[in-house]
Amino acid sequence: MTNSFTNASAKDAGAAWLGGEFAGKLVVGNWKMNGLATDAKALVQALVAQGAGDKSLAPQGQGQGQSDVQLAICPPFTLLNPVRQWLGAAPLWLGAQDCHAEEKGAFTGNISAAMLRDAGCQLCILGHSERRQAGESSPQIAEKLAAALRHQLIPILCIGETLAERQAGQTLAVLAEQLASSLPFPLEGSGNSGGGATPAPIVLAYEPVWAIGTGLSATLDQIAEVHQFLRQQTAALGHVPLLYGGSVKASNAAEIMALGDVDGVLVGGASLNAEDFGQIAVAASTVLAGRSVSTAAA
Ligand code: PGA
Repeated sequence: MTNSFTNASAKDAGAAWLGGEFAGKLVVGNWKMNGLATDAKALVQALVAQGAGDKSLAPQGQGQGQSDVQLAICPPFTLLNPVRQWLGAAPLWLGAQDCHAEEKGAFTGNISAAMLRDAGCQLCILGHSERRQAGESSPQIAEKLAAALRHQLIPILCIGETLAERQAGQTLAVLAEQLASSLPFPLEGSGNSGGGATPAPIVLAYEPVWAIGTGLSATLDQIAEVHQFLRQQTAALGHVPLLYGGSVKASNAAEIMALGDVDGVLVGGASLNAEDFGQIAVAASTVLAGRSVSTAAA
């Protein structure tokens, strides 16, 4: 397996956004296998229009700052190019939902990380449970993650336990195993930058399988426990932004993002509706504003 994490350009791309102490919120929409051109165009135009009309929905600094809200949408491959054009100068980021581990060649039906970068992507979701359930293994995901980093895509690595695993009390053990085996470098940090303190340009998403698309979000206590655990697990890599995903909606986004170790959300169903996604983005801004008020008051 290639360990591309020593690739300087990949580190630079991540570092530019993640910084050493990322204190913003990342709100990512995963459209999954949804979207035909007409509907998708209307959705993107509505998002852009909301951003133009509501300052709190327009991320400041286009992701260069460390304390702002960054929005991203991950449409299916067929829509990447048109969505990029419909977005125009809007500061939303574009992501894909998967990539292949190899650079190019005889891999019919697949899309390489280089192609995604070429299409204007900044992000790539990897290891989503819907792909793991279809047979994708953690070692395969690790190779894809290495490919994404080689091409300056920030990977959003998804991990999550099933209901049976949670009920058996195995949640943290399952997550630790998935995390360690889905990374192309050691969690201890020794392989990430030749021994330096540069943070890994990756994002980690905790998505309990039983909460995805069910309308049944994890409880705040469950999310807090897992995110605190993942913060410890990733400590040697610097501040890895931690997202929660699984039935995030306008009504629960603020309380989830107000948790100390939640750096944002990965949103499926609610990202297909401009008003709902916009409200989740506003919730992120509100949480950040609340934090800076209390910091200022302290
Ligand atoms: P959901 O999906 O928000 O529809 O539960 C989340 C995801 O799968 O990323």
